[in-house]
Amino acid sequence: MAHAVVTGGSGFLGSHLVDTLLDDKYRVTVLDNHGSGRPANLAHIEPSRLNVRKHDVREPFPEFDDVDVVYHMASRASPDDFDSHAVEIALTNSEGTKNALECAREHDARTVIASTSEVYGNPEAHPQTEEYNGNVNIRGPRAPYDESKRFAEALAVAYRQRYGMDIRTVRIFNTYGPRMRPDDGRVVPNFLSQAISGDDLTVYGDGSQTRSFCFVSDLIEGIRRFADAPAEDAAGEVVNIGNTHEITIRELADIVLEVVDTDSEVVQKPLPQDDPELRCPDISKAREMLDWEPEISISDGLERTIPYFEKQLSLSA
Ligand SMILES: NC(=O)c1ccc[n+]([C@@H]2O[C@H](COP(=O)([O-])OP(=O)(O)OC[C@H]3O[C@@H](n4cnc5c(N)ncnc54)[C@H](O)[C@@H]3O)[C@@H](O)[C@H]2O)c1
Repeated sequence: MAHAVVTGGSGFLGSHLVDTLLDDKYRVTVLDNHGSGRPANLAHIEPSRLNVRKHDVREPFPEFDDVDVVYHMASRASPDDFDSHAVEIALTNSEGTKNALECAREHDARTVIASTSEVYGNPEAHPQTEEYNGNVNIRGPRAPYDESKRFAEALAVAYRQRYGMDIRTVRIFNTYGPRMRPDDGRVVPNFLSQAISGDDLTVYGDGSQTRSFCFVSDLIEGIRRFADAPAEDAAGEVVNIGNTHEITIRELADIVLEVVDTDSEVVQKPLPQDDPELRCPDISKAREMLDWEPEISISDGLERTIPYFEKQLSLSA
């Protein structure tokens, strides 16, 4: 059985990734400090099928007999944490990425690094292709996250140049679905929690800023296709994975109000500094290289997510 090490495997995306790896008969080890992730995200898996180790990736990885692929997913990703956990995030994406790459180097394993559309900052190019170098405020409030992700990408390039390793970098655009924490702080959990609880939906600014929301199963399918693609196509590559259906935050609020049975209304609050105005992936490369594109519409994806949020909110009530 091939052995996959998944950092951040107790988190939202990591836990869905683990599910697909187990389905495909991988032996899976999760390394997670359970900071923003939760063991409950993996509770549906028979314990004998999965090795979960509480481990902070800022520390060197445990010894393994063999590793075939490292998926480096660990990092807090909520803007709510960019200030309160700034140093932790910056070091998770720098020291943590180094430790992930060192583990892969020792075992001659493939590495998949989870980067983010945040590396494009407040983009002047639209939609964003992988060639676009971004417009990031290196001293801004998002810098501990977006600059450290940029460093993670640079470190991956350096390790590949120096050691010839098979390293693949995926730039993930806004993704949502079951297993996001209702109090995660990102916009979809915010809106769903508010609508289900009957509270008003908070829109920052006038809501004209755009995002493109990808349902989690589409995203994980894209990551797996990239990870499993032949080395001659994918080693050393970076690819955008996300949904191209761009909507304003105000439109998202209206869709949530349609799909959740609620009396909530929309209220506006001031826009945080450096909140990107536009965000939409160009996924031509993923289409061509991986024959992949997302299939699930925003309203379908929200319908699939609502029961999870209803359950979580009733448990915490
Ligand atoms: N969900 C999105 O829309 C999105 C978008 C762009 C990029 N990403 C990236 O995808 C990855 C997963 O994000 P997510 O949305 O699942 O967030 P999440 O917070 O649910 O998951 C992150 C996981 O990493 C763990 N973690 C954080 N720091 C760690 C450390 N130092 N050591 C060990 N474990 C640590 C957390 O406990 C958690 O389980 C992150 O790298 C994130 O930057 C996500």
